[in-house]
Amino acid sequence: MDLGLEGATVVVSGGASNIGRAISLGFAGEGARVVIADIDHAQAKRVADEAPGGSVVARETDVTDPGSVEATVEFVLGNFGGIDVLVNCAGWTVDRLFLDKPREELEKEIAVDFWGFINFTRPVVAHMVSRRRGRVVSIASDAGRIGEWREAVYSGTKAGVIAMTKAIAREVGKYGITLNVVCPGFTPGRPETSGAESIWRGEQGALFGEEVLERIARSYPLRRLGRPEDVVAPVLLLASERASYITGQTLSVSGGYTMI
Ligand SMILES: NC(=O)c1ccc[n+]([C@@H]2O[C@H](COP(=O)([O-])OP(=O)(O)OC[C@H]3O[C@@H](n4cnc5c(N)ncnc54)[C@H](O)[C@@H]3O)[C@@H](O)[C@H]2O)c1
Repeated sequence: MDLGLEGATVVVSGGASNIGRAISLGFAGEGARVVIADIDHAQAKRVADEAPGGSVVARETDVTDPGSVEATVEFVLGNFGGIDVLVNCAGWTVDRLFLDKPREELEKEIAVDFWGFINFTRPVVAHMVSRRRGRVVSIASDAGRIGEWREAVYSGTKAGVIAMTKAIAREVGKYGITLNVVCPGFTPGRPETSGAESIWRGEQGALFGEEVLERIARSYPLRRLGRPEDVVAPVLLLASERASYITGQTLSVSGGYTMI
């Protein structure tokens, strides 16, 4: 099936590492022009170098800072003339019991996972309204659908992304703009494809040894953990014209972990 993404301009926040990297390279493989908007510029440039002939560009962006995001949006509009697709993938968390979490971790989760979505979605959707077309696909989490142990605030931010997606989808559907959410399963990063800012490089990565990963995999109906590649086809589909009658939806791509 031709998704018709050739020549589309796609912005991927958090596109430098693990899941975002796979999504960025997936769009590049369809012939799209991709701008990775990531705080980890060195890792974003590495992904750009992996992609075929100049199809991926790195633009240093902090999603928690509206000025930084707006400068990136201006950069993309100035250089590419428009934004067809926004993928909100930047994320941050540390697994910890709610009562044990220091204040700065709670604030960082809200800043990256909640404000990051708002800061990017607002200017891009405003641009899409002016063009009467566009696609937004946001990467949330099953934590935001069912609530996850040791992920209370993260669960809240991802539930917020799901609810905001539905609300905005109702407001801008009349312009032909769609917004949908994809929730990956547990998808540990690998050192060679995860940036310095990746959650898998810090405390979070160190938490999960092989034995714990195997136990988590056994709790999934499909009996394996997620791979970054698993979410690529669903994201590409939702970003394409083929999905023009799907909006406000949440799709779990998580081996059956949740079925709601
Ligand atoms: N990996 C999983 O198990 C899993 C499961 C469910 C949902 N998710 C969601 O998928 C998305 C990607 O997860 P991942 O495992 O690839 O994470 P990751 O930590 O490997 O990558 C996240 C990317 O976001 C970037 N980033 C962090 N803070 C930023 C900021 N302030 N501004 C711009 N960029 C910033 C990082 O540099 C990194 O490149 C996240 O939204 C995450 O919540 C992941």
